[in-house]
Amino acid sequence: MRVDIVSIFPEYLEPLRLSLVGKAVDAGIIDLHLHDLRAYTRDRHRTVDDTPYGGGPGMVMSPVPWGEALDHVRADEPSVRPTLVVPTPSGRPFRQATAQEWSDRDWLVFACGRYEGIDARVVDHFSGREDWDGVCEVSIGDYVLAGGEAAVLVMVEAVARLLPGVLGNENSAREDSFAPGEMAERVEGPVFTKPPQWRDLHVPDVLLSGHHGNIEQWRRAQADARTAERRPDLLGD
Ligand code: ADE
Repeated sequence: MRVDIVSIFPEYLEPLRLSLVGKAVDAGIIDLHLHDLRAYTRDRHRTVDDTPYGGGPGMVMSPVPWGEALDHVRADEPSVRPTLVVPTPSGRPFRQATAQEWSDRDWLVFACGRYEGIDARVVDHFSGREDWDGVCEVSIGDYVLAGGEAAVLVMVEAVARLLPGVLGNENSAREDSFAPGEMAERVEGPVFTKPPQWRDLHVPDVLLSGHHGNIEQWRRAQADARTAERRPDLLGD
């Protein structure tokens, strides 16, 4: 999968070269390209923002460098149509199902906004272009970050661990919280490792029993109890 990220702070995305995602990059599973939006400005001050039409606080990112940057990225790979992802607190929620969907795509391009956001014509323009495979405005949660970069770190990691060859054990994504199927609307229960007693705390007997049916049943009950306690919103009526 190819991943391009455009930001005024491309160094913010360097942690994607570490750990699990970094290994996927090193292995060639992810072809990662970071771009500095300011490289696509033409004025001496490398301006990327301006005052909002209609008034109001803060600054809005200009469509001009965004258009140049995204056209440049697009032109690098003529045979594949990229999906444009724009993180914004006003976007549709990014969920595990979103990560799953995106993990099947060939090319994701992330546009990191700052300030009060990107001029809305950028999304309009790229939504209507046949050489792009759609635009997704997404939010990672109901809080406001200073920019899209931290959200992109989150989303790329969530997608990367679903790509074939990235997780050591192909089963480990299957039993995750929110994994498609049985876990889709539940969170995982507690996990334990050795030693069987630590301080005054014991690992539940069932996990030491070797009885796979009982262990499965216990895990399901723990997941249900934890979901009811912490995430009643997932259970519906
Ligand atoms: N940019 C600022 N806040 C954000 C959020 N919650 N999700 C995605 N992008 C953002």
